[in-house]
Amino acid sequence: MTKHSQPAVIAIFGATGDLAHRKLIPSLYEMAAAGHMNEDIIILGIGRGNDMDDAGFRKNAEDAIKESLGSNAELANKWCSSRLYYHAIGESTSEDFKKLSARIAKLERAHGQAGNRIFYLALPPPQFGPTIEALGAAGLNKSKGWTRLVIEKPFGRDLDSAVELNDVVHKNFDEEQVYRIDHYLGKETVQNLIAFRFGNAIFESMWNREKIEKVEIVVAEELGVESRAGYYEKSGAMRDMIQNHLTQLIALTAMEIPASFTAADIRYEKVRVLRSIAPIGENDVTMGQYTDGEIGGERVRGYREEKGVRRNSNTETFVGLKLHMENWRWHGVPFYLRTGKRLKDHSSEIKITFRCPPINLFTPHKLHDNSTESHSSANVLVIAVQPNEGFRMSFEVKAPGTEMMLKTEWMHFSYSEAFGALPDAYHTLLHDVMLGDQTLFVSSDEMLASWKLYTPVLKRKHTLHFYPAGSWGPEFV
Ligand code: BG6
Repeated sequence: MTKHSQPAVIAIFGATGDLAHRKLIPSLYEMAAAGHMNEDIIILGIGRGNDMDDAGFRKNAEDAIKESLGSNAELANKWCSSRLYYHAIGESTSEDFKKLSARIAKLERAHGQAGNRIFYLALPPPQFGPTIEALGAAGLNKSKGWTRLVIEKPFGRDLDSAVELNDVVHKNFDEEQVYRIDHYLGKETVQNLIAFRFGNAIFESMWNREKIEKVEIVVAEELGVESRAGYYEKSGAMRDMIQNHLTQLIALTAMEIPASFTAADIRYEKVRVLRSIAPIGENDVTMGQYTDGEIGGERVRGYREEKGVRRNSNTETFVGLKLHMENWRWHGVPFYLRTGKRLKDHSSEIKITFRCPPINLFTPHKLHDNSTESHSSANVLVIAVQPNEGFRMSFEVKAPGTEMMLKTEWMHFSYSEAFGALPDAYHTLLHDVMLGDQTLFVSSDEMLASWKLYTPVLKRKHTLHFYPAGSWGPEFV
């Protein structure tokens, strides 16, 4: 990260919440400590509580940094006490927002800043709209410098609510000011999909229906709903994972070659792919919910027994989808998506299965394949999004010996071997917001295209297939 951001105030709404504590504050500190952000940047935490002040917020931030990074306490203390401030927004009335505006202006004067501002909404989704309206009404949607708005997911809960929220955003901010977060786009392995596809000529000529038989995208989690039942009960796996994270993986895997490596061209191609996905048929959807089971040798509760979950809840914790693309590149190639909580393993990957050779010279009795991943002679490319980030590709090779026996072997690339530890996604995304680079953020068109695709599925009634925690989920198309 060599480019440098300008001085700015980063105002975080929801600064005493979980996301700020676990991700935002530690990432900002990490960037400051590594010299990846302008050292004059100030962070203004905004929350409801009047019982919090600058000192309390700094202390919480230091704890968050220690918990997350185990960092040098003295350095963290110095950074927090010189860069962090807290502002209580009260009931969020227009008067409260005027006071916020005055506080920001005062901080800017005190720090000799030109008026660059980032408003980060790390808030519960129902508060997005009212907060954006209030920012606009208080004139905080523009300033002497630049003003940017960062919105966490989920952006809406179906097409209508997303359109409504988007209208509020566009009434108050220009699209160029808006950064819709999907933290998957900040993952190195996800960004690498672009490098992998368009930086290596060998793959591009094979990346189509002629050579590829199917594409499978899996995001499997061992974790259950944890302490987030309140949110998850209203969301389910469709809204929590499919509409955003898995959709980003589809878009980057399937998009056409952009005209240039700019945010506008890349985002344009991603929208085109989403628009080319055919309406999802009833038989192409599988929904499930975990029951009690065993993970890593430990008994775990079923979803309906989790704290805060209704005993008769029909919220899906697993979704399997089969998608069909109506475009030249992918016509006839199924895209399988699968995501679930409390599955056997924690693993996210994109698996591309190439077509088998048109003629099989090696008769079945001569085939020898003790691989657990491939039982045919198709070449498979697995892009490991996490963990064990990297990729591997299978080849059929002749096993040494007098007979012609084939064996599947794998060629590997590992990020940790080549580069060591990878940066956290939030580090990358915050850095890009500071620089004003929208490439890794979801555009308005893309977000709407995605809701347009999934809203009919969300509106339909589905049979819920129960699966024991620690399994691979229900059988699916
Ligand atoms: C979040 C979802 O957006 O992504 C969580 O709300 C999910 O339910 C998480 O666990 C997965 O993120 P990651 O980076 O751990 O794969």
